[in-house]
Amino acid sequence: MKSTYYITTPIYYVNDVPHIGHAYTTLACDVIARFKRLDEYEVFFLTGTDEHGQKVEMAAKNNGVNPKEFVDKVSENFRNLLNCMNFSNDAFIRTTEEKHIKSCKKIWEKLLNNGNIYLDKYSGWYSVRDEAFFSETEIVDGKAPSGAPVEWVEEPSYFFNLSKWEQKLLKFYENNKDFISPETRRNEVISFVKSGLKDLSISRTSFSWGIKVPNDKNHIMYVWLDALTNYLSACEYSNEDNDEVFKKFWPADIHMVGKDIIRFHAVYWPAFLMAADLPLPKKVFAHGWWTNEGNKISKSSGNVIDPFQLVGKYGIDQIRYFLLREVPFGNDGDFSNSQLINRINSDLANSYGNLFQRVVSMIFKNCNETIPSKPKKFNQEDLMLINSIKNNLNYYRELIDKQNFDQYLKNIWIVISNANKYVDEQAPWALKKNNFERMEEVLFTLVETIRQISILLQPFIPNTAEKILEHIKIPHDKRKLKYVNFILRGNVKISIPKPLFPKI
Ligand code: MSP
Repeated sequence: MKSTYYITTPIYYVNDVPHIGHAYTTLACDVIARFKRLDEYEVFFLTGTDEHGQKVEMAAKNNGVNPKEFVDKVSENFRNLLNCMNFSNDAFIRTTEEKHIKSCKKIWEKLLNNGNIYLDKYSGWYSVRDEAFFSETEIVDGKAPSGAPVEWVEEPSYFFNLSKWEQKLLKFYENNKDFISPETRRNEVISFVKSGLKDLSISRTSFSWGIKVPNDKNHIMYVWLDALTNYLSACEYSNEDNDEVFKKFWPADIHMVGKDIIRFHAVYWPAFLMAADLPLPKKVFAHGWWTNEGNKISKSSGNVIDPFQLVGKYGIDQIRYFLLREVPFGNDGDFSNSQLINRINSDLANSYGNLFQRVVSMIFKNCNETIPSKPKKFNQEDLMLINSIKNNLNYYRELIDKQNFDQYLKNIWIVISNANKYVDEQAPWALKKNNFERMEEVLFTLVETIRQISILLQPFIPNTAEKILEHIKIPHDKRKLKYVNFILRGNVKISIPKPLFPKI
């Protein structure tokens, strides 16, 4: 039986238009999901939209439509982003879906029956933009720590007994060192929990766009309890007739989130799950934030980066490569057009694109349009190149499991650069005149290296990797990770290639 792998993105607030931050989180998940599929896992890759709450209700009102009409329309923007970036999600959950509403009610009842929910009154600050409660001590210059405006709220509310879970959470972090990553976020979360947890308000009464609390029709569920539960709903938590999917995929292997929402995923979510007697996800990874040419990205400054435009201008694989190569995953990063163009021209066009172009063109011109057959022998230089990826497959697996995308790409680009050097040193054009057989060995070694590189690049730049593998006639069913260890047979006819990455 195949091993399973369940990976999730946050579900996106529909009131926003999709921007580079959303594309980034989903891209990271897409790369991992594609890699795991290549490594023969049965993958469940989930994304979706967060459609309830005060923020969405207000946005609908500003647009003069009712919330349902509004979310039906704008959640479409996020589905369009999936195509635009070539994302391979297996499911798309909306929090207005029936099965999600059922799940939320189910988890609420579980929490209630286990004695973890009580009715009281909330009085304190609330930030609609963050959809979060803040105590007096957390307020900075009259604002939420994120800079968002806050309003004073006083209303009856159900509370979750979060304080009871403080020690259990700390123990869990201690026993599961990889649960929160990177290390800095882990430390941040641990010190937050150690500073003392207060019970959490989990229902609201002053507006109505949300899921009704099962035992009290005057309350709607706090939007974060509603939103987090999507991870259960999508794998059929509330399906009473069939629990196969849930058993198969829950707990999730990784929740990918931005650093701003780590607290919800690494503190509240595991506490809710413990309290509901459910298994906990294996990992929460919090990535950094992008700025635009040095400035914080915000709608009000008008410097939001539109992924649709970027992809239209530079190409899907170019943007996918740039976002994951430019900044070590987990760190903040700055988006700069000149850096993007540099990466496209130097890494993609001059290095990888050029390697493919020159090797295939030489074969086309000198070898009767046919990749030479596997040579009888390889010399030391050939083996160095051919084995550099093969012998390190487990290392690449490890890098993906650590979400270390930039290192993964850096390593592959070292091989690409070595392959380009090898072309210059072996000078197959000179061999053509005096040692035709050696020329064939060299060209074979190069195509074999390109094959391995392209198998490993499929998760990152799927369109281009596919074009290359197609071009050198690698059958579809021979593109999984394990086939890196096989060797090309050669002796297949090829055509003349078009440039893969036009220079900018
Ligand atoms: N709806 C909640 C998540 C609920 S998950 C149960 C939410 N939505 S969001 O649309 O505001 O944000 C989604 C993701 O986009 C977050 O992970 C956030 O970190 C990410 N980004 C938003 N702006 C970003 C940047 N400028 N850079 C990188 N990622 C950013 O939060």
